[in-house]
Amino acid sequence: MEKLVLILLATVIASCTSNTSIFGGRCSKQDPNVDACLLRSFNSLIEYMKGGAPELGIEESEPIVIDELSIALGGGPDGYRATFKDIHATGASNMTITNVRSDLETHQFQLTLFGPHISARARYRSSGVLLLVRASGGGDYWGEYEGVKAKVYFRGVPYERKGRTYLKLQQLKLDFNVKDIQMGVENLHNGNPVLQAALNLFINTNAQELLKEMKPELKRDLAEKMSRFLDRILEQIPYDDWIVD
Ligand SMILES: *[C@@H]1O[C@H](CO)[C@@H](O)[C@H](O)[C@H]1NC(C)=O
Ligand SMILES: *[C@@H]1O[C@H](CO)[C@@H](O)[C@H](O)[C@H]1NC(C)=O
Repeated sequence: MEKLVLILLATVIASCTSNTSIFGGRCSKQDPNVDACLLRSFNSLIEYMKGGAPELGIEESEPIVIDELSIALGGGPDGYRATFKDIHATGASNMTITNVRSDLETHQFQLTLFGPHISARARYRSSGVLLLVRASGGGDYWGEYEGVKAKVYFRGVPYERKGRTYLKLQQLKLDFNVKDIQMGVENLHNGNPVLQAALNLFINTNAQELLKEMKPELKRDLAEKMSRFLDRILEQIPYDDWIVD
């Protein structure tokens, strides 16, 4: 009797966390609106992953931590350079997918994502001259990013494992833009209020420009993180569990 209850319980638990419920149902290749179905599936996957999914080896998605990023503006020995360390970004888990385009023959997917608000905190060090002010030093950086739109493209190849079809990630690219950026520096090490004011004026009037400078490194880092994440999911959830003929 006890055994039966245990088995029943195990079955209930197993079916609650089944791959299908993670994806909110399968999508059919024959469905002319398969992209709309994939949109729902991917969003339910994101919802499921929000607080982390230990059974899939997925850690909690907040915050995103980036070890280091640097920018250089202007050349020469006095060109402004800044390095940002221990970047902690929060709000990415609130992103939702707003559009999906797929080519299921070639296993290509393009997702459009939107996040209302992302916050970042970091430590920074800088050197060089900015607005005629010698900007050597360090302190804390904060950034508030409103209206983050991202596009993620990925392509996989199917393979067989234990009688199931899985997808192996072949390529992933991403790009993003931010509608409105507010950022600044504070707690400067040398406590120079003139420098702090100059830096804040500069970075706020050049926020989009600075983001553009950071983008190549940021894109590389985020693409790597996202590839690892997607790799793990694709390795554990058979492709034929989310797409059927
Ligand atoms: C997904 O399906 C695979 C293969 O059937 C299985 O090994 C894995 O445990 C399933 N994952 C979840 C979370 O149910
Ligand atoms: C996600 O959005 C909700 C509602 O706007 C907000 O309360 C929450 O703080 C956000 N989460 C993060 C990690 O930013």
